[in-house]
Amino acid sequence: MIVDSDAWNERYLARDDLVWAEAPNRFVESECASITPGRALDLACGEGRNAVWLAGLGWRVTAVDWADAAIDKGRALALRRGVNVEWVVADLLTYEPERSSYDLVVLSYLQVPPGDRSIIWPAAASAVAPGGTIMVVGHHSRNLHEGWGGPREPAVLYTPADVVATLDADGGFDIVRADEVQRPVEIEDGTRATAIDCLVKAVRRR
Ligand SMILES: C[S@@+](CC[C@H](N)C(=O)[O-])C[C@H]1O[C@@H](n2cnc3c(N)ncnc32)[C@H](O)[C@@H]1O
Repeated sequence: MIVDSDAWNERYLARDDLVWAEAPNRFVESECASITPGRALDLACGEGRNAVWLAGLGWRVTAVDWADAAIDKGRALALRRGVNVEWVVADLLTYEPERSSYDLVVLSYLQVPPGDRSIIWPAAASAVAPGGTIMVVGHHSRNLHEGWGGPREPAVLYTPADVVATLDADGGFDIVRADEVQRPVEIEDGTRATAIDCLVKAVRRR
């Protein structure tokens, strides 16, 4: 398990090209494309594939990650695409997003243990404005034995029910989707596999 920003930075610095993709995550894209652009917050943004895509749609995006090497790659991607993103280097365990301020909050493959999730997920939820959307996508617990790739530590995997429990505790959300979803993957040798992801989309009541 990668546990600190130094280790994440090493991973991002180990190659010149992107560790993740340039295109947005397929579920972020399919679930968020039709939402009217406003203010968006991408937490654990990595190299900014989702943040840059949202900015291209007209969103005013704040993107946060503790790995400055990832943020540097995000800045370069945004420059290539000609879009503006507010980039923030910060640890999500202490970062306090503006409350009730964002029309969209995205958490895409932030895989941290339950103790960390119990801090980061409620803070993410609190940042959603009335009528705004929270979108959580990540590696599902079942992916460990039944799906392709992803972290090998059970503690950092989760289920839709785990996310919904946080949103229920907040008390202000209507759940739009809380699903296990399959993500086809093409492996380097050309063969195909399927990853099992957790997808939760919810809207804060007005
Ligand atoms: C698997 S990557 C996903 C990146 C991006 N969301 C995407 O989907 O391409 C997970 C990211 O979480 C970040 N991260 C993990 N723990 C964090 C923390 N406590 N504070 C800020 N970023 C964190 C890592 O630096 C890494 O960039």
